Amino acid sequence: MKALLVGATGTIGSAVARLLRQHGVEIIGAHRKSAPPLDITSPASIAAFYAQLGQVDAVICTAGAAGFNSLGKLSDEDVELSVRSKLLGQVNLVRKGLDHLNPGGVFILTGGVLAYSPLPKTSMIALVNGGLESFARAAALDLTDGRRIVVVHPDWVDVTAAKAGVQLPNLPTADETATAYWQALDGATTGEPVFVAGHAPRGKA
Ligand SMILES: NC(=O)c1ccc[n+]([C@@H]2O[C@H](COP(=O)([O-])OP(=O)(O)OC[C@H]3O[C@@H](n4cnc5c(N)ncnc54)[C@H](OP(=O)(O)O)[C@@H]3O)[C@@H](O)[C@H]2O)c1
Repeated sequence: MKALLVGATGTIGSAVARLLRQHGVEIIGAHRKSAPPLDITSPASIAAFYAQLGQVDAVICTAGAAGFNSLGKLSDEDVELSVRSKLLGQVNLVRKGLDHLNPGGVFILTGGVLAYSPLPKTSMIALVNGGLESFARAAALDLTDGRRIVVVHPDWVDVTAAKAGVQLPNLPTADETATAYWQALDGATTGEPVFVAGHAPRGKA
């Protein structure tokens, strides 16, 4: 099995790459500094990357930025970045990747539990995560030949929360988070979100 992994060098992406390789998946890693580069904020960059890629069995995205600030302090740039990067970047990765995903293949996008359990300063992240979930639920209806789409909603990863000064108990490691991506890849779910085991919002376990 061959998978494109966008954001392969990140906190979550590097753990996902490690776990999937252990399961025998061939990983093609991409990010803004890979060779060739891929910038999900640029539709032209996505198209150029796909043009040289060929066919894969999975397109996984663990990249995408969104503004983190209180409502009154969000700048126009914060709002625009959130939509252009984490939301439209992943939507365009799906749209432009349709002809590059083999029948039976899967798109796996990254949202986050802030769609369900927001904290102060996370309105843009919640907007994007919720939008990705709704997009996937509807896009699943348009996919053909057994192709699937899944949004993984990770909880805060322990090291990321520590860096952001967020103190919450029992947060998962990046390696624990990666297991949700394997579940999305190895399972049969489409259109419905996947959570890290033990970290689903109430009523979603
Ligand atoms: N870590 C958490 O606690 C957590 C929790 C819930 C959800 N999430 C979500 O998970 C995703 C990954 O988070 P992370 O903490 O792993 O991020 P990270 O450590 O900052 O890594 C981001 C990865 O994406 C790449 N990247 C960044 N911007 C890109 C772009 N425009 N086009 C292509 N690649 C790009 C980076 O490489 P380059 O800089 O070289 O491009 C890097 O490989 C984000 O969407 C985040 O919102 C994270």
